[in-house]
Amino acid sequence: MATPRPAAPVSRGWGSGGLTGAAAALRRRYPTVDDLERAARRRAPRFAGDFVGNGLGDDVCLRRNRAALDACRITPRYGVDVRRVDPGVTLFGRRYAMPLGVAPMGLAGLLRSGADESLAAAAQAANVPYVYSSVGNSTIERIGKMAPDVFWYQLYGVPAQEHRVSLDLIRRAAEAGAQVLVVTLDVPVRAKRSGDVRNGLVVPFKPRLRTLLDVLGAPRWALDLLRHGQPRFGNFEPYLGSRPSTQALATYVYQQMAGPMTWEALARLRQAWPRAMVVKGVLHADDAERAVRLGMDGVLVSNHGGRQFDAAPATLEALPQIVARVGRQATVLVDGGLRHGVDVLRALHRGAHAALAGRAFLWGHGAAGAAGARHVAALFEEEFRLALAQSGAVDVHQAARGGADPG
Ligand SMILES: Cc1cc2nc3c(=O)[nH]c(=O)nc-3n(C[C@H](O)[C@H](O)[C@H](O)COP(=O)(O)O)c2cc1C
Repeated sequence: MATPRPAAPVSRGWGSGGLTGAAAALRRRYPTVDDLERAARRRAPRFAGDFVGNGLGDDVCLRRNRAALDACRITPRYGVDVRRVDPGVTLFGRRYAMPLGVAPMGLAGLLRSGADESLAAAAQAANVPYVYSSVGNSTIERIGKMAPDVFWYQLYGVPAQEHRVSLDLIRRAAEAGAQVLVVTLDVPVRAKRSGDVRNGLVVPFKPRLRTLLDVLGAPRWALDLLRHGQPRFGNFEPYLGSRPSTQALATYVYQQMAGPMTWEALARLRQAWPRAMVVKGVLHADDAERAVRLGMDGVLVSNHGGRQFDAAPATLEALPQIVARVGRQATVLVDGGLRHGVDVLRALHRGAHAALAGRAFLWGHGAAGAAGARHVAALFEEEFRLALAQSGAVDVHQAARGGADPG
């Protein structure tokens, strides 16, 4: 069992305020993900902060995810020696530091440049899974180098020519060392996100009066854009000739990466992918069962962070039925609204083997760059250890059983 690591080397006096070092300073400035979100939103124009933070429709599903987590109670068990807790977990044959990874996020560089690299490096350092998006702003090859031990790849299908490009993307991901392929099922149509429509969001960013005023209020973001350029959909460069423009890449993604991922296409991808494979965006137990029958190693219970279908259930509500149906044959993961270490415990308590968080990590990068992303991993790890111990569990197996064994 691992020994608990202190958050920072020395404490002068009573209280965590006495801790020293750069990590401790971040911890004081941003003790929670909410603090990071506020800072990240202040730094970025409204259209960028809203793109990350919003759901769709009336944000009902977005709020439902959070409300279900808040409503999840765990009765603690005391009297257990919890001085040594082990937050580690084994997923698809590999040991990770805790049962929480980074969810895939496309166009993450809109909030602050370098997001994908920053999150990948933070995940590698923290030894947690990092799921790199098909519509990320780096490249598959670069992420493979930055996160060699924790790289998972997320695929959105490109249906044209019998998925020629989809198959090539996963070939490249396998070559770059991705250990797990995550295929997203829950985007049969492009979502209408009225907040983005209202904010005039378009990539590449076009200066219109509304967006210009928005950017004028975010000078650090604007400087960053001037220095690093607009976010590019770098994974698609090989399919558009030599050094395609940012505009050409964005148009390609908008036009080609559209249409449903079908069970038939999934079966073909299963044949082509040599390692573990997970279907993302499952909310119905019948769909979970079908995915497992197709040979999937895992299902990710997700409603896309409330960004696709406002009537969808909270993921924590959908989770127990899916665990009951496929939890013995497959790894069940969940995401949606996680912002605290105790949320990871809640996910395990409802039967998940592990969870992912998206926005939480991106707010960290948005507020404080690479150090901010690392800080979020540290926050989750510290809080998850505390939550485990407080509940009376010393490892993830006991956490799933709801604290210490009786007797
Ligand atoms: C800005 C943003 C971009 C996203 N892009 C993708 C994506 O490219 N592929 C995907 O499967 N899911 C995508 N998602 C959904 C996340 O993977 C994940 O399901 C969701 O964000 C989890 O909820 P949380 O952000 O509240 O933790 C995106 C989410 C956000 C916030």
